[in-house]
Amino acid sequence: MVTEVRLPKWLDECIFIKLKAKYCCSNSDMTVIDWDKKDVLNYLGTYFPRSYAESYCIFREFFIYHSRNWADKETISLFDFGCGTGGEIVGMLMAVSETLPNINTVDIVALDGNQDALRLFERVMEVVSSKLDITIKCQVAPIRIDDLYDLSILKSVISDCYDIIISFKAICEFVTKERFEEENAYKHIAQSFLPKLEAGGIMLLVDVTTYNNVSQEWLPVMMDKGLSGFQGKIVMRNKGFNQMFYITHSCKKLDKSKVAWRLILKQ
Ligand SMILES: C[S@@+](CC[C@H](N)C(=O)[O-])C[C@H]1O[C@@H](n2cnc3c(N)ncnc32)[C@H](O)[C@@H]1O
Repeated sequence: MVTEVRLPKWLDECIFIKLKAKYCCSNSDMTVIDWDKKDVLNYLGTYFPRSYAESYCIFREFFIYHSRNWADKETISLFDFGCGTGGEIVGMLMAVSETLPNINTVDIVALDGNQDALRLFERVMEVVSSKLDITIKCQVAPIRIDDLYDLSILKSVISDCYDIIISFKAICEFVTKERFEEENAYKHIAQSFLPKLEAGGIMLLVDVTTYNNVSQEWLPVMMDKGLSGFQGKIVMRNKGFNQMFYITHSCKKLDKSKVAWRLILKQ
């Protein structure tokens, strides 16, 4: 799998020049849901490129090696839970545009509880739409999920025919904030959204690999516990405990990101 990526020049200019993002790393157990615009601009300059790289590499690999079911499709629908500034959505779109030439339309629903992040995401998507030869229909869902009740409402209102459902580095915030009290957040989120996939659709869960001080557990261990006894089939995952991806852009050469990921197929 390719794990080293350079941010396309037009995307680099979009985030660092047009939107004035900053490169600035934060501590672990951070909760972006509470951040204001200034913090979110630091997020855009630091974590957007990392999520872009992780998503681009994983989807590129998946589409190349599992292309049989995807090569004839003309449209893809995507739901992102906790999209933030949407680096992973742009990474996926780049992988689609390079590996699935028949795709002409991508329908996106991007959910997040942080309005500042969603505003920046929409501005990024204006530029992405003008650069890719794909029609991108993007709907943001400014929704904050405070507890299991909110999750059950969301489950009852979202469509149930997505090709792809993703969540990048968002479930860790549910753990830190104990949104589902002491229940396993990976389990609740994966079980809520698996029925929302088309048969043959995929769910990609990506998260940080730190020890969470609230749950007092390593997050990849929690992720695996949450997915055990689960109906979806894990068809790709990081080897070992975590996987390193490298992203180069105008503010940092070979910036490292370390994540755990599981790609689940709905059969
Ligand atoms: C660390 S950021 C990741 C953003 C994006 N997925 C990425 O990889 O760049 C986590 C995102 O989850 C969102 N989030 C966290 N808790 C949430 C909640 N309870 N309801 C809705 N969104 C939430 C935050 O607002 C934030 O944008």
